[in-house]
Amino acid sequence: MIINSSTRIVGLLGYPISHSYSPIMQNEAFEKADVNGLYIALEVKPEFLGEVVKGLSKTGFLGFNVTVPHKVEIMKYLDEIDENAQLIGAVNTVKNIDGKLVGYNTDGRGFLSSFINKTKGGIEDKKVMILGSGGASRAVSITLAGNGASKIIICNRTIEKAKTLTEEINRIFPGIALAISQQDDEIRDVIQEVDVIINTTSVGMHPNIEVTPLNKKFFRKGLTVCDVVYNPLKTRFLIEANDAGCSTVEGLSMLVHQGAEAFEIWTGKKASLDNMYNILQEYLAKA
Ligand code: ATR
Repeated sequence: MIINSSTRIVGLLGYPISHSYSPIMQNEAFEKADVNGLYIALEVKPEFLGEVVKGLSKTGFLGFNVTVPHKVEIMKYLDEIDENAQLIGAVNTVKNIDGKLVGYNTDGRGFLSSFINKTKGGIEDKKVMILGSGGASRAVSITLAGNGASKIIICNRTIEKAKTLTEEINRIFPGIALAISQQDDEIRDVIQEVDVIINTTSVGMHPNIEVTPLNKKFFRKGLTVCDVVYNPLKTRFLIEANDAGCSTVEGLSMLVHQGAEAFEIWTGKKASLDNMYNILQEYLAKA
């Protein structure tokens, strides 16, 4: 890759930032799509976010990815925010159009497109149980509710947080969401009607790979089980689901799809999902 005076830059804004896999997959996407672009991680302390965004928007920066802790704060520096991101209440992708900043959220859409791609089916009329009620859960639950899921059950360790999220979802999509705790009896009451289970917590992530967010006794044939955790590639949650005859969708697939959606927003071109997936898989194997 030759970096010259025409190279357009995308910056990942976060703090801290060193753990991110996005530079690897986005630079691969630039290369494979033959776009003269460069993706770099920029460590930005919260107190400097406004100055950084304002300054870089006046350069030829193509845009940004935004990660923890800036996904909500960034919104006040943007000129426009797309509807999905507004509903989620957070932005992870910004396009710079000659100094005008437009915000998007590709987390939920990335999950949905990876789900469709892997299962060869849609989310319409599916009953979904989502484990966790943090930022990832918000993005996924609101996007799935907006794309035809018939029921969203938020299952969280802290029931108050599950209730707060379901109240917000129900304000937008009346009657669709239900909050439950992670007690066995509450899960047992709903599990038979569930079609899809999604883990959005960090439980099972390296180095704590022996733990799982859901007891395997709840798995049955016919369920689709998805994890947003991508390190390890096959979490204990997914291995046990697979052993029980469920279809599974890996977190790495969601990561790649949300990255590909962002790439298309910045460049107008499709990213090579296979190349992005392969380079990350290789990188994770070495890590
Ligand atoms: P993110 O923005 O990545 O979704 P987050 O906002 O920190 O992350 O949310 C993490 C979610 O994982 C929360 O739902 C959290 O549950 P609590 O609301 O009870 O804190 C859940 N979580 C994290 N560690 C967990 C654990 N060990 N067991 C169960 N749930 C856990």
